[in-house]
Amino acid sequence: MKTYLPLIALLAASCGAPPPTEEATTPEPRVVNIYSHRHYDVDKELFTQFTERTGIEVNVVQAGDDELMARLQQEGANSPCDILMTSDAGRLGAAKARGLLQPVESAELQRIVPANLRDPDGHWYGLTVRARVFAYNKDKVDPARLATYDALTAPEWRGRVLVRSAENVYNQSLVAAMIAHNGEEAAMSWCRGIVKNMARDPKGGDTDQLLAVAEGIGDVAIANTYYIGKLMASDEPEKQKAKAVLGVAFPILGDHGTHVNVSGAGVAAHAPNKAEAVALLEFLVSEDAQSLFAEGNKEYPVRPGVPWAQELEAFGKFRMDSLNLEALARLNPEAVKTMGMAEWK
Ligand SMILES: [Fe+2]
Repeated sequence: MKTYLPLIALLAASCGAPPPTEEATTPEPRVVNIYSHRHYDVDKELFTQFTERTGIEVNVVQAGDDELMARLQQEGANSPCDILMTSDAGRLGAAKARGLLQPVESAELQRIVPANLRDPDGHWYGLTVRARVFAYNKDKVDPARLATYDALTAPEWRGRVLVRSAENVYNQSLVAAMIAHNGEEAAMSWCRGIVKNMARDPKGGDTDQLLAVAEGIGDVAIANTYYIGKLMASDEPEKQKAKAVLGVAFPILGDHGTHVNVSGAGVAAHAPNKAEAVALLEFLVSEDAQSLFAEGNKEYPVRPGVPWAQELEAFGKFRMDSLNLEALARLNPEAVKTMGMAEWK
């Protein structure tokens, strides 16, 4: 903001204009307005750092992603929103399909974010990666039996599988990835197999499934890696049993790698502060910001070469599925339908 002042003063002087009024010499502060579904403390820290470096203020509206998209749609061209941030590529794709995002051409973002983790037209960019994996009870399970997602549908897992509901977008995206690779019929038989093997009707979030493994309600939970990483980093007494008993398996999808998803962001279709929005996205893929994401929320950085949190290192290396995540939004309706037909509650 300060850098504008000398230029304005110079222009005023060279035109022989009258002395500038208070209003004319005090430009509006630069801001960027974010609608975010992410609910992690690390984001606040990142936005503070961005403001310190650039002088650009960050305002955040936090709500569920469906609510944020409805709000954006309703506000239309009058929306103050510059950036939509969510924790699922499928949701970002849905926002694009509804015309809520605009393309961004940034050599920096395109260089850093791998092509499969961003929209081909630049409407959204992945910022952090999470894998959807199996967390198992080390006392009861041989991880060699969990090499593929399909393995979990075998009769040996009857009554032993914990997973959250079909309404959860992470599960929908996993099923969408299966449809993309193997078709709807294969995805249907996987969903049916999982439903058959469930230890209980789905309830709670991913962390609840992890704790239920420790309680002996089931032996394998389907969960995102950052929930397991955060649990491993936790000092809370009620998490200690789970910390001791859980192991992590990285199943593969057919002959592809492990299913991954991103938290990501796109610039809103009517962003009033587009330059500031792009500056923030570029900051979020910088080495410093990526390290904070990695350590603070136990997510895999999108930027190659940035170290992983030690909890994730301990889970081991794995091969990520290279599917372009654009497919998660495109195939979401089929995934929801498939899960419904399989009676996944
Ligand atoms: Fe989450």
